[in-house]
Amino acid sequence: MEDKFKNLRAEAEKEIRSAGSADSLEVLRVKYLGRKSFLSSFSGGMSKLDAAEKPIAGRLLNQAKQFISRLLEEEKSRLEEKEEGLDPTSPASKTDTGSIHPLTLVIKDICRVFERLGFEIQEGKETEDEWHNFQALNIPLDHPSRDAFDTFYLGLPASDKGRYLLRSHTSPSQIRLMQKRKPPLAFVVPGRVYRPDSVDASHSFMFHQIEGFAVGKDITFSHLKGALMYFAKELFSEKAEIRLRPHFFPFTEPSAEMDISCIICKGKGCSVCKHSGWLEILGCGMINPKVLKACNINPKSYQGFAFGMGVERIAMLKYGINDIRLFYENDVKFLNQFYEV
Ligand code: DAH
Repeated sequence: MEDKFKNLRAEAEKEIRSAGSADSLEVLRVKYLGRKSFLSSFSGGMSKLDAAEKPIAGRLLNQAKQFISRLLEEEKSRLEEKEEGLDPTSPASKTDTGSIHPLTLVIKDICRVFERLGFEIQEGKETEDEWHNFQALNIPLDHPSRDAFDTFYLGLPASDKGRYLLRSHTSPSQIRLMQKRKPPLAFVVPGRVYRPDSVDASHSFMFHQIEGFAVGKDITFSHLKGALMYFAKELFSEKAEIRLRPHFFPFTEPSAEMDISCIICKGKGCSVCKHSGWLEILGCGMINPKVLKACNINPKSYQGFAFGMGVERIAMLKYGINDIRLFYENDVKFLNQFYEV
């Protein structure tokens, strides 16, 4: 079967390249792709093939069709150019240009919203030590949540802050910024994180998060709620509603998970929100006093709030994407849909 297709492609190439006129190209198009062509009758007979042969035959068929269509196109424009002669004043033909990756677009959108609230954008470190990734965030060595976070350790000698690893969340950047700067502080930190997760439609061993936090005198839970409500309405829609559900995170106390009213069904209930009308989009809370102390900030004088969200999840909801792997495959057909000048 493979030989048959190989010969067909070679023959088509020879004939198309030497067609010489638009009319003969049309004759060749009918010969190779028309209703009575070999490819057409082969396609009609595919249902009779064995199950094992079908995918191979399908692939050969599609490749041959694409190959011949492309040849016909190329030859057609070559002939047209020849006919028109070269016009040096005509605009240059459009070349392929890059576009902004959808995750970058979403990161930019989210950062812009928080910038309007006075937050500063910073990038943290992708390589962290155990103390910043865990202990300083009140995740002791024997804490059960370390399982989901235990990640890729580097083969470097450990420092007095423990072994080096690829960070499993962006929260350690809170620690670094709180140690470096004096309150009042308000930062958002986008970046990559790594987890020991097997890849499937909704998981990846690498993904992106955005961490946000504010520290100052008299910062309260209402400030957190107000900032997040503003964020939801600016990013999704004026009509978006938010809901905070009590939750546990070691680095915040009290902690909550935030849902937004489902942007697909507007809260009525659909398969995306599993008929609840709500979509979970981030974790948040008041920074645990133990975390402030680890950064030498006195919790009696200062309070803070923090939140963390997954960028892929938000991009998937915003653009209706159902498989996280699409973000990393460099498929130009997928990426071109997010073209932004
Ligand atoms: N670091 C958490 C995670 O990766 C996300 C998170 C939750 C960050 C609550 C926060 C927070 O700052 O307050 O799952």
